[in-house]
Amino acid sequence: ALPPPFRVPLPIPPVLDPVGASDGTDRYEITQREASAEILPGVRTPLWTYEGTFPGPTIESRRGRPVTVTHHNELPVPTVVHLHGGRTPAASDGYPTDLVLPRGRQERPMHTGHGSGHGMRGMHDPRAVVTELTRDYTFPLDQRPTLLWYHDHRMDFTAPAIWRGLAGLHIVRDDAEDALGLPAGPRELPLMIADRAFAADGGLAYPALDPALRERPGVHDPYLGGVLGDVILVNGAPWPVHEVDAARHRLRILNASNARHYELEAVTDDGRRLDLVQIGADQGLLAAPVTHRLLPTAPAERHDVIIDFSGIPVGGRVRLLNRLGSGRTRDVMAFRVARRAADDSRVPRTLSTDLPAWRRSDAVRVRDLSFRAGRMGGGHGWLIGGLPFDPARSDVITRLGDVEVWRLVADVHHPVHLHLVGFRVLSRGGRPPLPHDAGLKDTVSLRPGESAEIITRFDGYRGRYLFHCHNAEHEDMGMMANLEIV
Ligand code: C2O
Ligand code: CU
Repeated sequence: ALPPPFRVPLPIPPVLDPVGASDGTDRYEITQREASAEILPGVRTPLWTYEGTFPGPTIESRRGRPVTVTHHNELPVPTVVHLHGGRTPAASDGYPTDLVLPRGRQERPMHTGHGSGHGMRGMHDPRAVVTELTRDYTFPLDQRPTLLWYHDHRMDFTAPAIWRGLAGLHIVRDDAEDALGLPAGPRELPLMIADRAFAADGGLAYPALDPALRERPGVHDPYLGGVLGDVILVNGAPWPVHEVDAARHRLRILNASNARHYELEAVTDDGRRLDLVQIGADQGLLAAPVTHRLLPTAPAERHDVIIDFSGIPVGGRVRLLNRLGSGRTRDVMAFRVARRAADDSRVPRTLSTDLPAWRRSDAVRVRDLSFRAGRMGGGHGWLIGGLPFDPARSDVITRLGDVEVWRLVADVHHPVHLHLVGFRVLSRGGRPPLPHDAGLKDTVSLRPGESAEIITRFDGYRGRYLFHCHNAEHEDMGMMANLEIV
């Protein structure tokens, strides 16, 4: 049975301790293994986890201080780790065929391309297959401080792997951000929002074509648009509640859902909407705060938001609701004001001054990229520029340092994500960007039938990266492409 809303305490994912440090690099170890948790009352849910928990442990880093994470795979399938939003050399970026093989299975990877029904992708590219049992991922983290997240990215099976629990947070900080005086400590809350569906025995229900997740990618027909759950989890708990001081809090929101979009609103007991003051986007602080009453969030987007509980009486409650939901998917979580308390936090009117200000005239090239449904290997797929993902093909080749404008166009809702770089939204549907497009993004939510222009500079590292739709089912069913920086 589903728990009543706003009863389960909000868990805060544990922060992972480094196992050591050498040459200015922090070293971490993560074992990917099966575990179970009591998510719904009275039943155990088997999970695939990083270090036994869902979400996985949070890594806390300082800007420019490199981190090495050694991942050990004790799961029954190959895995790939990607640090979403990381400015990462290609070798550690988690290309979908750079597999960490499961322990005790040294045979060739079961699957490096689509099997029957979905064409043959990825079989003929010798560069594509790197296989190990354990893998060191090195993240320089020479980037704006922000909330990143790490998740599985295996070719064709990313969606079910994230669904089973392979997702965790990675926060990057720096001195400039610390000096702003934003709410901190217990008043800074990471919130990983993800919907899930459960079977009666407590297991996660996922409509995979191949329940073993080894051969046939994709989901059964009614789910081609993406898999939704009827239970909203925040940090792995269903519709949780969190006790807060009557003070400002910093909510670091990640929509880690496979396919669900939300429009978040914070509503008091007497029906008033509190302001959601956005201070940061996917790639860190905005130039100045932007106030929302309704905050849309698409899969993989992050929103750094200040909410002020100082006007709420002790014992009062503020519910975070999803305006796009109905029934139980309308509820997300609640905050209960437990006590009055002093608050010396600030929300400065200038948050950052280092946002890139690329202009259209800086662009050396404009590309048109469509995100649409189509036929793929005799079945249904999701295509970029009319083509399904193929690791052996170069889709976009650009030069390190080039500024480009990309014109994106969508048939249905597609959150489009670029690896390596942050971008700015230049326009939507030929009009100026929306308030929630502010700042530096790495995922832009294209709404049905919408077009958008983004601008970026391909900076950082040369190598082979990706861009894709972050509706995880769309991604697994072809909606991904190669981005080569030369
Ligand atoms: Cu969140 Cu290509 O990933
Ligand atoms: Cu999509």
